[in-house]
Amino acid sequence: GAIREYQFDVQMTNVTRLCSSKSIVTVNGQFPGPTVFAREGDLVVVRVVNHVPYNMSIHWHGIRQLRSGWADGPAYITQCPIQSGQSYVYKFTITGQRGTLWWHAHISWLRATVYGAIVILPKPGVPYPFPAPDKEVPIMFGEWWTADTEAVISQALQTGGGPNVSDAFTINGLPGPLYNCSAKDTFKLKVQPGKTYMLRIINAALNDELFFSIAGHPLTIVDVDAVYIKPITVETILITPGQTTNVLLTTKPSYPGATYYMLAAPYSTARSGTFDNTTVAGILEYEDPASPSPAAFNKNLPVLKPTLPQINDTSFVANYTGKLRSLATAEYPADVPREVDRRFFFTVGLGTHPCAVNGTCQGPTNDTRFAASVNNVSFVLPTTALLQAHFTGRSNGVYSPNFPAAPLVPFNYTGTPPNNTNVSNGTKLVVLPYGASVELVLQGTSIQGAESHPLHLHGFNFFVVGQGFGNFDPVKDLARYNLVDPVERNTVGVPAAGWVAIRFRADNPGVWFMHCHLEVHVSWGLKMAWLVLDGDRPNEKLLPPPSDLPKC
Ligand code: C2O
Repeated sequence: GAIREYQFDVQMTNVTRLCSSKSIVTVNGQFPGPTVFAREGDLVVVRVVNHVPYNMSIHWHGIRQLRSGWADGPAYITQCPIQSGQSYVYKFTITGQRGTLWWHAHISWLRATVYGAIVILPKPGVPYPFPAPDKEVPIMFGEWWTADTEAVISQALQTGGGPNVSDAFTINGLPGPLYNCSAKDTFKLKVQPGKTYMLRIINAALNDELFFSIAGHPLTIVDVDAVYIKPITVETILITPGQTTNVLLTTKPSYPGATYYMLAAPYSTARSGTFDNTTVAGILEYEDPASPSPAAFNKNLPVLKPTLPQINDTSFVANYTGKLRSLATAEYPADVPREVDRRFFFTVGLGTHPCAVNGTCQGPTNDTRFAASVNNVSFVLPTTALLQAHFTGRSNGVYSPNFPAAPLVPFNYTGTPPNNTNVSNGTKLVVLPYGASVELVLQGTSIQGAESHPLHLHGFNFFVVGQGFGNFDPVKDLARYNLVDPVERNTVGVPAAGWVAIRFRADNPGVWFMHCHLEVHVSWGLKMAWLVLDGDRPNEKLLPPPSDLPKC
C-alpha cells in the first residue's frame, strides 16, 4: 500500500452559526475537519499538533488498528492526551476495510467540533461490488450549540442534571434554512440528471440518532461501517452517532424543474414531545442544462420535502435495522464465529447514584445525580492510560481486571419500575485471551426514560447476530440467531427495553474501549474496556509504543 501523510493543526477558529459567533476547536481551521483519503492496505500517518488550551486526542472511529492500539486515540484508555503545545503522530495500516469511517476528538466533548470523514477506497484495480457512482460526497451530521460545549458539559456534571440540548443539527457543519437566521448556512448538493451519486453518510452528532431522507429520491444502502451489505433501497435511513452508511442516489433522468429537501431529525424515545430543535435541511439542486447555476435556484421552483418517521417510531427502527445483512459472498465472506469461548451479558442504562459521576459530592442534589452504567458499574477514567499501565506492568491502582460478566442481581430489566439503580463507580476491565470468540448480549433497560444506546466497540468489528424487545431469553432467542449473513459493524443501537446480541473474535491485542456513543451517556459513565492479551505467535502481539507517545 501507499503512505498517506496528513498534518492536523488543532487550533481555535472563529465560526458563526445561527447569527452567533464563538471560538471553536478545529483542525486546520476547517469545520468540519479535513477528509482523510486512503485505500485499503495503505499506511496512514497523521501528525497532530495541539495549539489549543485543551488536552486533545484523536480517535479513528472504526479503524481496526490491528496491533497498533497506541494509535486508537481515546484519552486515558490507549494514550495520555496530547497536551497544549505538544504533538503526536498517529500511524496505522488500513486492513480489510473499505467504505466510510470517520475521525473525532476523543476527550470530553471536544468532538462537537473536531471531526471529519475517512474515505477508504478499495485496493487499486478492485471494483465496488455495485455499479460505480459518478461522484462521491461525504454527508456529515453534527450538532451545534450556540454556547461553548465544554461549558455545557462541565456545568451539567457539576449540578448532576442533564446538559442543555443543542441549538441545531447540521449537515456538513451547516444548520440549514429551517432554523432562524440560518438560510445562508445551507448545504447544497448540486446534481445533474441521469447520474448516480454515492453519499458517504456519517452521524457525528453528540447525542442523537437521526432519520434521514431526500424528497423524491430513494436511497440504496450498499455499505455500513466500512463493510459491504446486500443492497437495499429505502426512503429513509436511521443512523446512530458513530455509524456510517454509504448510499447510492440516482438522479431523475431529465431536469425535473423542482428542488428537493434532504432532512435529518432525531429518533428518540426519551425526548418525544419535548425536544424542539429537530430538523436540519439541505438542498438537492439540479443544474438546469438550459440555464446553468447559480441561476437555477432563483427560479422559484417548487420545493419538495420528504416525510420523516415520528421522533419515537421504534417499530420503524426495529424493522430498518433488521433488514441490514452482510454481503456474505466468496469475495466478501461473513466470518461469523460459530462457536463461543466466552459469553457475556451486559445491561446498559441510566440510573441515579450519589456522586456516581466523579466520586466527589459537589452538586446540590447528590442523591439524584445522573449516572449511566454497564452491569451497574459506572466507569471512571483513570489519570494515566490503561494501555500504558498494562504494557508496563503497572496496572495496580489503575484498573482492576474483574468487570462482571453478568449483572450481580438478575431481574426483569424492562418492567416498570426496574430497580437496579444501585450503581457503583469503578475502573474495571474484562480480560480476554488472544483469539477468544466472544458473544455479548447487550440488554437495554427501561430505567429513567428508556432510550436506545448506540454501543461502539473500539478495535473490532462485530456481527449483530440477534436483536429483540423485552428481556433476552437465553434459550429461545439464541436459537433464532442469524449466523449466516448478520450485519458486521462497529456501532449498534441497543433498543430501549430490548436487546442485541453480537459476536466477535478477540484477535487484536490491546485495551479496547466500549461505550455508548451518546456523549452525555459517556460523561455519565456508560463505558467499559476490554483487555485482550497477546497471543503466543510474534504476529499476535501488540507492537511497542511509539517514542512520542504522550505522557500524563
Ligand atoms: Cu467514535 Cu470511542 O468513539
